[in-house]
Amino acid sequence: MNQREAEGEAMNRRETLAGMAITASLASAAMAAATPTPAKNVSVKGAVALVTGSNRGVGRGFVEVLLARGAKRVYATGRNPKNLAEIAALDKRVVTFELDVTNAAHRKAAAEKASDVTLLINNAAYPGSETESERRFYSANNLDDIKRAMDTNCWSPAELARLFIPIILKNGSVGNVGAVLNILSGGALFCLPEFTSYSTSKAAAMMMTAGLRAETDRMPILIASVFTGGVQTRALPLGATAAYSPVQHAEQVFDAIAQAQSTIFPATGPVTMRQRICEDPDGFERRVIDRFHTNPVKVAPYE
Ligand SMILES: NC(=O)c1ccc[n+]([C@@H]2O[C@H](COP(=O)([O-])OP(=O)(O)OC[C@H]3O[C@@H](n4cnc5c(N)ncnc54)[C@H](OP(=O)(O)O)[C@@H]3O)[C@@H](O)[C@H]2O)c1
Repeated sequence: MNQREAEGEAMNRRETLAGMAITASLASAAMAAATPTPAKNVSVKGAVALVTGSNRGVGRGFVEVLLARGAKRVYATGRNPKNLAEIAALDKRVVTFELDVTNAAHRKAAAEKASDVTLLINNAAYPGSETESERRFYSANNLDDIKRAMDTNCWSPAELARLFIPIILKNGSVGNVGAVLNILSGGALFCLPEFTSYSTSKAAAMMMTAGLRAETDRMPILIASVFTGGVQTRALPLGATAAYSPVQHAEQVFDAIAQAQSTIFPATGPVTMRQRICEDPDGFERRVIDRFHTNPVKVAPYE
């Protein structure tokens, strides 16, 4: 065999090997596509739920509706145990304990205490500093507020999800499909400049949730993004009209997971907002910026 023939044979061999690799990768992609995503309809009846930030607002609404719809047990947690007495008295199925979501030891203890959980509701959130300028990237003295918002609203729910997904999978195998519900916000869809730290953290949490959903797609667990907005709580902007009470909000969310929905818009406000952003992103942002400088959104002073 002369040199040219040898080179030709080597090239043929390389092409054959490359062809085999492509065929193998297409075959494995086809096999993966053929692997069915399990049914992810989640029933609250008989579920064992853990709700963070359950002492008030949206979190309390979740606890009440879980009880009304036949949950077996509800771990109603909060960062200040003194605020949990009222909720503990609601029903003997309620178990309360302290859980500051940013505290790693609290999170670990929660996973040990609540080892029968089938439904994790990451509801607790930090709205940002009471000092307006500290919620921003440029005007703030430092980035501590953004970091706190990221810690409370993105990293801590992610850590809780990492702890509870294996627990939920273990418990789900003997009964109901389980779920992680991450309570996001319409403020995840665009930068709300009055609450930049909060918006930044909720946008990051939206991607964190989407990533978890992709990773667990072939597992019997639903990972849902809940774009909450317009619920009558202390977090509702002053002058805004509430679309729902916390109980009505929870009912919408549980109706949605019963149908295996993983992207949930309980009220029409955030979904309409998403449509407007998609139609004209620059125009939407311009209107938000103009409002920020002329008539900024405000919420009631923190208690
Ligand atoms: N209301 C709305 O229209 C609306 C709109 C968009 C999104 N959301 C989302 O809905 C969820 C609930 O908000 P909300 O309206 O009910 O507001 P909220 O009344 O201010 O409730 C927030 C809850 O989070 C708790 N929390 C804060 N930091 C915590 C921590 N480190 N560890 C544990 N708990 C902590 C608070 O506890 P303390 O009582 O101890 O402060 C409180 O229970 C949040 O994820 C929020 O972003 C609400």
